[in-house]
Parts: sequence; C-alpha cells; structure tokens
Amino acid sequence: MKSYQITEFVHHFLENHIKTGNICIDATMGNGNDTLKLCELVGDQGKVYAFDIQKQALENTKKLLEDQKVIHIASLILASHTHMHNYVEENPVDCIVFNFGYLPSGDHNLATKADTSIEAITQGLSLLRKGGLMSLCIYSGGDSGFEERDALLEFLKNLDAKKYLVILSSYYNRPNNPPIPVMVIKR
Ligand SMILES: C[S@@+](CC[C@H](N)C(=O)[O-])C[C@H]1O[C@@H](n2cnc3c(N)ncnc32)[C@H](O)[C@@H]1O
Repeated sequence: MKSYQITEFVHHFLENHIKTGNICIDATMGNGNDTLKLCELVGDQGKVYAFDIQKQALENTKKLLEDQKVIHIASLILASHTHMHNYVEENPVDCIVFNFGYLPSGDHNLATKADTSIEAITQGLSLLRKGGLMSLCIYSGGDSGFEERDALLEFLKNLDAKKYLVILSSYYNRPNNPPIPVMVIKR
C-alpha cells in the first residue's frame, strides 16, 4: 500500500479476498473506481453488479470500464441498492462493497441515507456467502453530517456476533472526522 487512504486500504482487503470467477456487488457505483477494482479482481469469468441512483454515476463508470476494457464483466444498474435482490441473479455472492456519501463531482444532496443504507446492508448480508466479505467506507462531517455514520455504527455494533465478524479500523490521530473503514465477514 502506498497512501493508506481509505479506498486503497479497503482495496487491499478486497485483493486478499476476491478470486477469479467470483460474483461481486458494488452497492454504490459513483465514479466507478470500486467497480473497476472488482472487475479486475474477478476477471473474465466473474461478474460485478454495480448500483447507483444517479445517471451521471452510470455514465462515468461506463466510460471508465470501457477505457479499461472490462465493461463486459459488469452489469451497471440505475437503481437504489435497496433493490439489489431484484437484479442479482446469483445467490450467494462473494463480496459486496459500500462506499457511502455523495458523488464527489455531483449533487451532494443525492447522498446515501441511513435508513436505505441499513436496508441495503441487511439485504446484502443475506446474499453474502459464508466466509464472504462486505466492505464499508463510512464518512461524516461536512455535507455528510453525522446521522448516517451514527446509525450505521450502531447497526453494525449490534450484528449477531455468532453470524458476523465486524472489524472497524480508525485513522486514530487524524483530525476532522476521518472516514471509517469497516469489514464484515459472514461466519
Ligand atoms: C462516495 S460515492 C461512491 C464512490 C464510488 N464507489 C467510486 O469508486 O467512485 C457514493 C454514491 O452512492 C450513490 N447513492 C446514493 N444513494 C444510493 C442508493 N440508494 N443506492 C445506490 N447508490 C446510491 C450516490 O449517487 C454516489 O454516487
């Protein structure tokens, strides 16, 4: 790892977990950086479903994946991640990625919201295979506020420890509400 920024930190875990041919979900497509990473890891034999509610996100991601010649691996879906079970054909899946908040270059009002995020995580956990990984990047402060972060942390803290291992990391000495990387492993 070079920078230890949150996405690179999470990608490090994805690299260790995901194998060629795996089925993955990017629940928050955005500009497609996570979708691209997942496509590279699953390869031609795998599949990546990616969701976003913004057309702009879909267009940005489509262009990125076309440029990188991995578009055939992905299914880009303009829908809320709360509908993922209607689109994902495989059950179980190997890995699910959430990167909450807003599209950096887009409308900050179209950010993820606590109640729908928790609904989508719950759905994702039911789709995840035993031993599967769910990664979550949680943001707070600024336009993100604190409601979603607080609700997500409370929800994750109360997940049944017999069914899920929840590992939360901290940029402990960084000021100004640093992002929080979380890994959930289904037992
Ligand atoms: C921080 S960005 C994601 C970054 C992205 N993973 C990347 O690599 O560029 C968060 C995205 O979540 C999207 N979003 C907000 N609510 C959503 C929902 N209910 N379902 C799916 N995506 C949603 C936003 O439109 C935004 O593009």
